[in-house]
Amino acid sequence: MDLVIDELKVFSGTAHPELTKAVCEYLEIPIGKSEAFKFANDNTFVRILENIRQRDVFIIQPTCAPANDNLMELLIMIDACKRASAGRITAVMPYYGYGRTDKKDQPRVPITARLVADLLTAAGADRILTVDLHAGQIQGFFNIPVDELTAMPILNRYFRAKEISDLVVVAVDIGISKRARDVAESLNAPLAIIEKRRLGNEDSTEILNVIGDVKGKTALTFDDEILTGGTVVNAAKALIDAGVTEVFCCATHPVFTKAAPGIIAKSNFQEVVVTDTVPVPAEKRNGKIIVLSVASLLGEAISRIHKGNSVGDLFHD
Ligand code: R5P
Repeated sequence: MDLVIDELKVFSGTAHPELTKAVCEYLEIPIGKSEAFKFANDNTFVRILENIRQRDVFIIQPTCAPANDNLMELLIMIDACKRASAGRITAVMPYYGYGRTDKKDQPRVPITARLVADLLTAAGADRILTVDLHAGQIQGFFNIPVDELTAMPILNRYFRAKEISDLVVVAVDIGISKRARDVAESLNAPLAIIEKRRLGNEDSTEILNVIGDVKGKTALTFDDEILTGGTVVNAAKALIDAGVTEVFCCATHPVFTKAAPGIIAKSNFQEVVVTDTVPVPAEKRNGKIIVLSVASLLGEAISRIHKGNSVGDLFHD
């Protein structure tokens, strides 16, 4: 039998069809034909509507809200592709949901990020392609290859073009400080760190301290994701109190709650710059929120994975 693994097929789950469309435009291929719906009993059903025997299949599905539905649909799509004899299946998860539950830091709690890895593998995924995991160590929860891309060059380019003098990059908590340092280096700026404390398992946080010299500077806060907006908005307040003149924000994943855009609109930020790893519908946009696309980054990575070329070489910005 002739192997046709050289034929690339990109399918979309229902979480983010606009991103899949933009990725397929970059790749100059049509979106793979499939359907997904729920029966009256709430069971998800998926059908691949074209032949994918031995094809190199990529399924694009960020596991953002509704996280359980989107994850389950992705698992079912992988299962459908496996049973349709796909040659190789890559789960493309621009946002890896449950990434924050990545360690046993309280008694009797799960490590759901690991459970999700096991589910994806059991369903039949051969590879994972993702963007800015909450913690890079999640890669090690898989025994299949994981390509983790970063949106940092896209965000860095945006701020470099602004030519802000006296910039300081601010990690909004200690956990993100290593990646914030990379942003600071790329923008040729010093780094400051905010000491933040999460209040139990609540979504609220408390700022304890601004570490570093920020007075009289323009601050750029950096985080991997924005949910309620509490972390970054409190960081902006603390930075203004510490004497910064202006404050900008950048983060990869806009997993905004319903209230987050309103909180951002009233914040001290000049701009909150995010990417489209997660959909940002019109009702969640406002004048302060700038959305940059990761479609060409994902498209180029898919093309390189498909052709067996280096993905790492993509990151020389
Ligand atoms: C937490 O560790 C993450 O890096 C983010 O800081 C967090 O998800 C932001 O959440 P929120 O916007 O609700 O403060």
